[in-house]
Amino acid sequence: DWTTGNVIEEQVTAIRELVGDKRAICGLSGGVDSAVAAALVQKAIGSQLTCVYVDHGLMRKGETEQVEKDFVAATGVQLKVVDAEQRFLDALAGVSDPEEKRKIIGREFIRVFEQAQAEIIADEGPAVEFLVQGTLYPDVVESGGGTGTANIKSHHNVGGLPEDLEFKLIEPLRKLFKDEVRMVGQELGLPEEIVQRQPFPGPGLGIRIVGEVTKERLDLLREADAIAREELTAAGLDRDIWQCPVVLLADVRSVGVQGDGRTYGHPIVLRPVSSEDAMTADWSRLPYDVLARISTRITNEVRDVNRVVLDVTSKPPGTIEWE
Ligand code: XMP
Repeated sequence: DWTTGNVIEEQVTAIRELVGDKRAICGLSGGVDSAVAAALVQKAIGSQLTCVYVDHGLMRKGETEQVEKDFVAATGVQLKVVDAEQRFLDALAGVSDPEEKRKIIGREFIRVFEQAQAEIIADEGPAVEFLVQGTLYPDVVESGGGTGTANIKSHHNVGGLPEDLEFKLIEPLRKLFKDEVRMVGQELGLPEEIVQRQPFPGPGLGIRIVGEVTKERLDLLREADAIAREELTAAGLDRDIWQCPVVLLADVRSVGVQGDGRTYGHPIVLRPVSSEDAMTADWSRLPYDVLARISTRITNEVRDVNRVVLDVTSKPPGTIEWE
């Protein structure tokens, strides 16, 4: 019988047996899959697992704290948080091209992650032999991995570590679909905000600022995004939409009026979409009163923003993200 209880029990036993007295590491992205995989392995081997979380400064409001506090509180996991904000800001300075931004963020992420891994490996204690990954069944099928029952395979040179270093992968979610992963996460006691999380791109807010990424712009976008999320949650719409990117058009200004003065500020774009798999999407017909509340609050509360616009493009032709 398929129950979340059985899945957890089965995996915990298998992982314990496999790992023995060795150590494992796991990268946390803030997303559902890596969080549930980590929680499951943590349940099996406790302090033999160390998680790594790279804070690139492109996260939304409260996200890093959610990993640092809520995730650790729920799982008791040993966590290494790397504050890499300045490094990412420096690397992104002066760059506006979307593809270039993506490449820089990806590259810096791997560098920081490798460094953290190397530090953990260099620690005293038993060897780190295992790397935990939140691979799901659809990922396995997509990459031609078939339906094999083994949840472990050897993998060389993961994340660019020394070539003679060999990690064995632990992929405890390999047989599960996303909704099953959420159920397992819930059963493991992970907070709702983590388990029910909507998709968020790896490059974070870096690709939601049209124009150069700066600390100031990130802070502004974080505020606007937090307001939109707060109002969507308050209206009970989280399950109705796939996700709602909030985008800052940093290179655009328009004239407005606030109090008795002229303003010349930036627009914020709301991009609520409904979708099954993100391959195609339709723009969500959100209630006007919710849109009005978001617009009023953003223009009142976020400095330098004097206009909120709604993206009414489906995918195709528009992608979900703006960059
Ligand atoms: P697009 O913009 O291509 O996005 O319609 C489709 C889905 O993928 C997410 N997305 C990403 N996720 N790394 C990720 O992990 C990325 O670089 C990335 N880019 C886009 C996007 O949020 C949407 O859910």
